[in-house]
Amino acid sequence: MAVSTFVTGTRPVLVAVLSAVAYLAGAVIYRLFFAPLSKIPGPKLTSVTSLWVMYHEFKGDRTVEIDRLHSQYGPVVRVSPTEVSFNNYDGLREIYGIKSTFSKSSFYDLFVYYNERNTFTSLDKPNHSAKKRLVADRYTKSYVMQPSVADKVREHAAAFMKQASAQPVLDIYTWLHYYALDAITNHLYGIYGTQTLSNPEYRGIVYDLSGVKHRTRLYMLHYFGWYMWLTSQLKLAVRKLSGQSTQFHVRGNRLNDYGQDSVSSFRRDQTTKDTISTCAKLFSQIPNNEPAIAAECMDHLVAGVDTTGDAMCILMWRISTPEYKHVQDTLFAELSSIKDQFDPTTKTAPIAALEKLPYLDAVIHEAMRWRPPVPMTLFRIVPPSGALISGQVIPGGTTVGCQAYSLHRVEEVFPNPDLFDPTRWLTEDVAHLAAMRNHFWPFSSGGRMCLGHNLAMVEMKLIVAAVYMHYTTRATPEVTEESMRMDDQLTSGVPYALSCPLEFVAR
Ligand code: HEM
Repeated sequence: MAVSTFVTGTRPVLVAVLSAVAYLAGAVIYRLFFAPLSKIPGPKLTSVTSLWVMYHEFKGDRTVEIDRLHSQYGPVVRVSPTEVSFNNYDGLREIYGIKSTFSKSSFYDLFVYYNERNTFTSLDKPNHSAKKRLVADRYTKSYVMQPSVADKVREHAAAFMKQASAQPVLDIYTWLHYYALDAITNHLYGIYGTQTLSNPEYRGIVYDLSGVKHRTRLYMLHYFGWYMWLTSQLKLAVRKLSGQSTQFHVRGNRLNDYGQDSVSSFRRDQTTKDTISTCAKLFSQIPNNEPAIAAECMDHLVAGVDTTGDAMCILMWRISTPEYKHVQDTLFAELSSIKDQFDPTTKTAPIAALEKLPYLDAVIHEAMRWRPPVPMTLFRIVPPSGALISGQVIPGGTTVGCQAYSLHRVEEVFPNPDLFDPTRWLTEDVAHLAAMRNHFWPFSSGGRMCLGHNLAMVEMKLIVAAVYMHYTTRATPEVTEESMRMDDQLTSGVPYALSCPLEFVAR
């Protein structure tokens, strides 16, 4: 009797377990042999589960692991049952080309500020075009090159140079991020922009943006949003009860408050004659939508600090090591050809003069090729009708993308990719140069290409020219290949140590 009860009682459990096993086995067999992505090259494990890619995301080596897969399996690689990575110009053009209808993935929800979608976080083409139209003119090359705009950035470069002359050793990681913050916030909010290079107020914002690592929290939000929502609600309740601010920003409350206050101050300031800033343009277009204005500006702020700060930091560190010292000498020789253009007080030169220098341009290109500030996959979703990408049939709904890190290491285009060699950009081989340009992808490309790339180039040229016209820089002993190695923080590849003290020796 006892035995038969046991058997009868456990039968439903047994049936359930067996059904689950059969279902799982069926799913595994389907994914391994019959699913559309099963034909795409890649490790078998990635056709069965997303755990492989999630593991590397949380570990912080997703980008280099995907690059390793490309070396092993070729330019098209399956990285999970629902995601394919491409590493060739064909793939890049089809996914990101100007005519592309691929939308961004929900991954971008992480960057929605003040509950409003902005240019960066608009997922589909029509919404994106509407947002971008409001601000695009503030970032064209002709706009940012005009003296009334570029000379403002030049003032910040001068403030950086003041610090360089006052401190023989400067942690350029931090100070270049101050420079990037001051440049972008002044472009955005006019007189309400920060002055962190000369005034400690708001330096905390740079710490929140660039002094802490955000990877785990961002991935937790992406994958386990419900759990994060629950914990944030609990924290919110505790903050409310204890009378603290309840504003939430993925990068901290100081940033949240600064973004909101700047826009409110701008609106209240009836005396402002500012017509240049992004805020001024937005108020002229959507005067009654302050949250949308704040969200758009905040997006440009976040997009413009880590990226530009990291790019300048990596460049200056790389040429401060003994094996690349010759790059500083060549730069100095080129800059000396426009010596009389440098202002002796500010130590800076006008951007119009710097635009004519090919080696300066080549050094900046090479720095962003060698260590792209945004090295990771830029996720896109294949439209419901599916797509043929680089000869592969990809079903609708699949996540696809390219990553700058790998495109910049395609050997046939960039021979010896680990070598930092600015002269590769000075080749007279027109076809090779065109191939390099096609694969050079730090700012992405097509309709969703970086909006701020012209401004970023102005910032970088002004500072690199000012520094190497007047100083040689040397890495201090604590700055090593290890301390500067790429630490993949999901949206940026920061130097592992988040610091880079360099010695500045006057020429
Ligand atoms: C070296 C500096 C910079 C790099 C390497 C960089 C890189 C990028 C990349 C790769 C994207 C595409 C992201 C994606 O599709 O997921 C992007 C988009 C964007 N960037 Fe930048 N960025 C830089 C500086 C700036 C600056 C200074 C701004 C300031 C306005 C800015 C604003 C934006 C915006 C608004 C977008 C979204 C564009 C769109 O979706 O239409 N970026 N950036």
